[in-house]
Amino acid sequence: GEKSIAPFEYIGEEKLSKLVDAFYSKVSQHPDLFPIFPDDLTETARKQKQFLTQYLGGPPLYTEEHGHPMLRARHLPFPITPTRARAWLSCMREAMDEVELHGDLRDFFYHRLELTANHMVNQPEGPG
Ligand code: HEM
Repeated sequence: GEKSIAPFEYIGEEKLSKLVDAFYSKVSQHPDLFPIFPDDLTETARKQKQFLTQYLGGPPLYTEEHGHPMLRARHLPFPITPTRARAWLSCMREAMDEVELHGDLRDFFYHRLELTANHMVNQPEGPG
């Protein structure tokens, strides 16, 4: 059959890398998010670049180094409320604007991230 082109190949490694860096720079300044993230986001960003590469159909860099993503399980130590999921997604939209990711590729990618972010919610709204 015909080989389809993965979204990863359309966005490219360089733009994905810029997106992730822009995203964590926003996370580090977001009042709802920075308290649950480490101060130094270098390693977090490195893992996220690996993860999103495979999420978009590129090489399985995350799994090769860290095993099965099990994303929901890996997020259970952190209290993720609906507010935090919305904050995460708003940082991502701003990062997409900043690196000028537009059009169908953005819509496709963002829609998938929305589903994944909602799936990460593990706490009701509350003071925590
Ligand atoms: C790790 C928060 C959604 C992918 C983390 C960490 C936090 C976090 C606090 C740990 C950072 C560290 O210790 O280095 C959140 C919040 C979300 C969210 C509040 C809101 C819904 C997502 C989504 C994805 C994702 C939608 C993927 C599309 C990852 C990955 C890691 C991670 C790949 C690294 C896991 C590892 O340590 O190997 N996240 N996250 N997260 N997150 Fe999220």
